[in-house]
Amino acid sequence: MKTVITNIHKLVNVRTETKLLRANDLKELPIIENAYVIIGDGIILDYGEMNSTINIQHATSNIIDANGATILPCWCDSHTHLVFAATREDEFVDKINGLSYAEIAAKGGGILNSAKKVNDATEDELFDSAWKRLNELMHLGTGAIEIKSGYGLTVESELKMLRVIKRLKGKSPIIIKSTFLGAHAFPQEYKTDHQAYIQLIIEKMLPVIAKEKLADYIDVFCEDGFFSAQETEMICNAGKLYGLKPKIHANQLNLSHGVQTGVKLGALSVDHLETMDDDAILSLSSSNTIGTLLPTAAYFLRMNYPPARKLIENNCTIAIASDYNPGSSPSGNMNTVVSMSCIQMKMLPEEAINAATINGAFAMEVEEECGSITVGKKANLIFTKPIPSLAYLPYSFGNNLIDKVMIDGEFI
Ligand code: NIG
Ligand code: FE
Repeated sequence: MKTVITNIHKLVNVRTETKLLRANDLKELPIIENAYVIIGDGIILDYGEMNSTINIQHATSNIIDANGATILPCWCDSHTHLVFAATREDEFVDKINGLSYAEIAAKGGGILNSAKKVNDATEDELFDSAWKRLNELMHLGTGAIEIKSGYGLTVESELKMLRVIKRLKGKSPIIIKSTFLGAHAFPQEYKTDHQAYIQLIIEKMLPVIAKEKLADYIDVFCEDGFFSAQETEMICNAGKLYGLKPKIHANQLNLSHGVQTGVKLGALSVDHLETMDDDAILSLSSSNTIGTLLPTAAYFLRMNYPPARKLIENNCTIAIASDYNPGSSPSGNMNTVVSMSCIQMKMLPEEAINAATINGAFAMEVEEECGSITVGKKANLIFTKPIPSLAYLPYSFGNNLIDKVMIDGEFI
């Protein structure tokens, strides 16, 4: 049965062509005013202006009056660590008291703290808590998501996390992409023997991951004190032999050379980019690798924001994502990410919305299914409360302006 949505105040990000946006294209956000959309089998079949004597008569069916709502494609959150066992608000207080992210990591906190908790948790416990978070995010408008492992750091626990993500994929109505991040930190016992842990990743984790089809991508935290550019390259090359494309954590805390390494590896994305120099920007701009900016992590860690304007001016392609994790971004709210991108990184509302939808979709290779209002794509739609303009969305930060969310043509 077809569904016709009528009386849409603004239908946002309507595209006939699906392409990765960069430079001036990023601020072009096509909108139809006073629109309708027709949906069948969860897919967008048609759309247009209300006054264009719609194809509506062909659709015998279910009419939904949007009552002046603005409709956007759901957010595509291309970088999260949604599976974790415990929150870390104690470290949050440590930071208020003056400890740095690196100091907390050095005393066994941070990622290693989360790994301890994941080790002690059962697969079912991890699944249940992640499932709850996922549903919360869907109600906040997220309609496709990438989820990483990386809080296991042993063969058993990394596989446990990836199996949880696989179960989420099986049950979730939204598309989930899975990323293997065994190289998130060196476990305490490998602090002085990096090579041994890297061998564990390459020889013991990757073959099982490939055999059980547990991941789509491979990630490494390329950072001073974590994995060097050379180690990153070695691990990603091993992953590539199993068909896992790299999506790496780069240039968060230091000029780690992660961006250049990612570009050299043909990474789908290099993520974070708080710490960039001209060489890193030049490298990114002359590539198809997407720079994924995570402003809520910079906010939470009180760091400088990634230089979004400079990246856009230099022809880099950028996406924005939540980085939802217990250590550096304990929120997966993409509405906040969009607001913060405008407020703190000076992205235009149109640029931020494109970066959180179509470019985010590209950053996890779901652009044929999600990220815009396009015939043939999924009817994953955000219905807003009445808003006076599109800019009002990021402007009115912290207010929940989402009225309803539709996934595969059904309200959740
Ligand atoms: O993306 N930067 C590395 N990893 C996570 C944070 C990990 C943590 O502190 O738990 C991030 O910010
Ligand atoms: Fe991250």
